[in-house]
This record gives sequence, C-alpha cells and structure tokens, in this order.
Amino acid sequence: MAVLEILTYPDERLRRVSSPVERFDAALQARIDDLEATRLAGPGAVGIAAPQVGWFERVLIVDVSGRRKTSSHGRLVLVNPEITEWEGFAMGREGCLSVPDYTGNVVRAERIHVDAFDPEGNPVSFDMEGFEARAVQHELDHLDGLLFLDRLVSRRQDLFRRKVYK
Ligand code: NI
Repeated sequence: MAVLEILTYPDERLRRVSSPVERFDAALQARIDDLEATRLAGPGAVGIAAPQVGWFERVLIVDVSGRRKTSSHGRLVLVNPEITEWEGFAMGREGCLSVPDYTGNVVRAERIHVDAFDPEGNPVSFDMEGFEARAVQHELDHLDGLLFLDRLVSRRQDLFRRKVYK
C-alpha cells in the first residue's frame, strides 16, 4: 500500500469530472487500498474521494463511525455511487483534505438514499442521515469536480480559517 499525494485547492485537476469504474479487478482493489491508506495517514478525515489523489474514477470512502452520536454504516467503499433520493436540509460544518486551511458551513440534504457498487462489483444501497449523509454528499461532489467552497452561500460568513487540521 502507498500513501499518495493529495491534490489541494486551487489545483485545477480537482475540477475534473471522474469516469465510472468499468472493471472490478485486483487493480481496482489495489488503488482502493492506496486511497484508504492515504485517508488514514492524514489528520482523521472521515472521507476521501479518488480524484483527490489524481485518480479520476468514481470511487469514494467514508467512515464516520469514530464520531459520537452519529448513525453510521461503518467504513463504506462506494464505487459509481449515485444519490437517488434526497430529503430535508441541514447546515453543517465541513472540512476537506484538499482545502486544508479552511472549514465551511454548507447546506446538505439531511437524509439520502445511495445506490452504488462495492469493490467486488456487487450492487449495494443505503439509507443514511446526518453526518454520514453529509460525508457522502461531500465526497460525491469531488467526483463531479466540486468542492465545499463551491457550495458556500457567503464566503465572508460561512468560511473559517483553521490553524490545525484535526
Ligand atoms: Ni473533500
């Protein structure tokens, strides 16, 4: 496994739209292992998306199980994920490995239904809510070339500088 370099804003590569995964093979699993190693090597990120390491395919990992009072399906590796239902809205604070110096308040759906594939190519689907739903929406944005910065209502009011990523 390898810890990969994380692209950071304003790197234009973060704007690319990623392609669907077409082959569920050992090479895919190896790249997923590197993606997870990179997430874990950082400062406790709850998620990472493939394009953040310059891999422009539709793969993301989320794991919010370390947060207290948060409903969670544990560690999820989602390939070709699609959100098919949205419900409610909530404002919440987000950070991003690709935007290490800031956090921001972003409005997301409170509950979502997600269809995807697992790394072996089996279809999976989840109903999720709260912070887990937020994390999946954030990571899925990366697959479409979007950052949380793009979703701020006001940079002046909703963007916060941070001293230490944690
Ligand atoms: Ni991010």
